[in-house]
Amino acid sequence: MIDDYQEFVQSIKRKTGIDLALYKEAQMKRRLTSLYQKKNYRSFKDFFTAMERNSDLLNEFLDRMTINVSEFYRNARRWEVLEKKIFPRLLSSNKKLKIWSAACSTGEEPYTIAMVLSNHLPLSQISITATDLDTNAIQKAKIGVYAERSLAEVPDAIKSKYFKKEGQFYKVADEVKRTVSFRQQNLLADPFESNYDLIICRNVMIYFTEEAKDKLYHKFNAALRPGGVLFVGSTEQIFNPQQYGFESEDTFFYQKR
Ligand SMILES: C[S@@+](CC[C@H](N)C(=O)[O-])C[C@H]1O[C@@H](n2cnc3c(N)ncnc32)[C@H](O)[C@@H]1O
Repeated sequence: MIDDYQEFVQSIKRKTGIDLALYKEAQMKRRLTSLYQKKNYRSFKDFFTAMERNSDLLNEFLDRMTINVSEFYRNARRWEVLEKKIFPRLLSSNKKLKIWSAACSTGEEPYTIAMVLSNHLPLSQISITATDLDTNAIQKAKIGVYAERSLAEVPDAIKSKYFKKEGQFYKVADEVKRTVSFRQQNLLADPFESNYDLIICRNVMIYFTEEAKDKLYHKFNAALRPGGVLFVGSTEQIFNPQQYGFESEDTFFYQKR
């Protein structure tokens, strides 16, 4: 017999197109159970029935299942590798790079890409696509205003050049904001563009099942041009990159062969 959670997974897929079965089950079930209990529902079934009538509840569900934590220059040493090693190689053959920040959350990551690349190219020549499942996160990204804790790893020179302090918050400069186009996209369901030079997908694949990750690595490989690079998060090392048509270029950077 199909259990309460499995039934919820199917109902959510029908309603939103989001397939929770592609996320690690124990973790997701725990997060969502604590949400429905906090809201005083007795089961996933009751929770879903209420969600059908109340769109705020659907939003709360989306907010709980998408973990939006991010920061500028997350794992700063990796961004140095991107700046000093990966970008120089990519730029040696092509000055108009096609770049995608996949699962960009509230925008810290694509804006960091622009700031790092601005050490090689004028901002007016930089264009980055940034996507996320969560439209609320994308709204925040477009506003581009952040609390100080998100900037802990930002080098001082970049902080004074590209951020303006407004009260307690920091606003990203318009010339940086103009380099990024945001749109909603589900990595586990929607088609990808092709011919990317660089795809940055960090700190989301840890939530996916092995099967979902396996498919995604193949799709990322197909979306890159030969020589293009996939940059993953610092807990997301790919153990057998050759299997997906990649070779390791540096820790957490994979070059398409
Ligand atoms: C922890 S954040 C990572 C943000 C940023 N990449 C970083 O490393 O700081 C994970 C993001 O993945 C997004 N996400 C979760 N499932 C997704 C999916 N199927 N497709 C696209 N984005 C997804 C969430 O909405 C969330 O914004």
